[in-house]
Amino acid sequence: MVCDRVSAVVEALDGKRRSPPPLWLMRQAGRYLPEYRKVRAQTRNFLEFCYSPDLAAEVTLQPIARYDLDAAIIFSDILVVCDAVGIPVWFVEGEGPRLEPIRSVEGLRSLSAEGIVDRLEPVYRAIASVRQSLDASKALIGFAGAPWTLAAYATEGRTSRDFEVARTWAWSDPHGFGRLIRLLSEAIVRHLVAQFHAGADAVQLFDSWAGVLAPDQFARWVVEPTRDIVARVRAEVPDARIIGFPRGAGGKYIGYAQETGVTAVGLDTAVDPAWAAREIPAEIVLQGNLDPLAVVAGGRAMTEQVSRILAAYRSRPFVFNLGHGVVPATPPDHVAELVRFVRDQGKSA
Ligand code: CP3
Repeated sequence: MVCDRVSAVVEALDGKRRSPPPLWLMRQAGRYLPEYRKVRAQTRNFLEFCYSPDLAAEVTLQPIARYDLDAAIIFSDILVVCDAVGIPVWFVEGEGPRLEPIRSVEGLRSLSAEGIVDRLEPVYRAIASVRQSLDASKALIGFAGAPWTLAAYATEGRTSRDFEVARTWAWSDPHGFGRLIRLLSEAIVRHLVAQFHAGADAVQLFDSWAGVLAPDQFARWVVEPTRDIVARVRAEVPDARIIGFPRGAGGKYIGYAQETGVTAVGLDTAVDPAWAAREIPAEIVLQGNLDPLAVVAGGRAMTEQVSRILAAYRSRPFVFNLGHGVVPATPPDHVAELVRFVRDQGKSA
């Protein structure tokens, strides 16, 4: 029976403090799970997998079935937006993504945000299908890459330690680089709104490479576009819950939380929980931030960190998560132990 219970993640994002806190994990569906590897083996390439609504819906639900997590995150990838605006994307097994790089304003001519919602229809079908089979007590989270992180991949053509191509372009031709950022922002707004319409309860904006930017570039290419996206999404979906994840922002998390209008900030592994709880404005919900490698280690190393995190965020609305995605080497049993521990500890906190 479908009931009208509100999910714990939605309650937390709406500002309610809960003990134990609700939890979900970035990259909770992925190669560390044998049931994921089995489904993944059915398609030759990763993007094709992302564009298969039935398979995407199936793997989205796997970690919920196994661990009873409080939210599902739709299985997709941030780079589908690049693909859908006309930047060819492919994945090289064992190495990661490759894109046909855009390195000048001339390269922007063939790109367009216009058809994105048609092209990404399989993602919305997967969302609608997951929402139908997911219990009302569980939230469904949609997502997109933030413009800076997508531009970083689109200019570099692959992953990089410090995205020198993008940063150099951004310093030497901010006007031209700004056009790429605006085109991506337009596509991201449309993609996020369509995910809400398909049934997402909240969305996360992954700015995975925010941490490589100097303060002026962070303000211009992370904070400004994020604020613009948040405002434009809310113009269509007024109560849109948006989690911002500017990974590596350090002290700039505070300005990001104050200036972008996001509902919540996802804190990365390097952030001190006590600092975040003290310094980030109280109206912003916090999410994070256990080191994914502490889950690989498991045992005391993991549970001691969880206890510290729970204690630090006890007085604020909080969603437990990792500081970055689950890594492939993670023993699935350690995730089960993590979920048990958060729920037991949280009760007594
Ligand atoms: O969190 C989830 O469970 C939802 C699914 C999800 C994936 N990627 C699936 C995926 C999400 C939210 C992402 C986001 C994503 N993708 C980010 C932002 C988060 C972060 O990690 O900082 C980034 C930077 C990407 C780009 C990307 N996609 C890379 C660099 C790679 C290769 C890395 C690798 O492990 O091979 C991917 C591929 C990818 N996306 C995989 C998964 C499960 C592994 C591919 C496979 O199964 O073969």
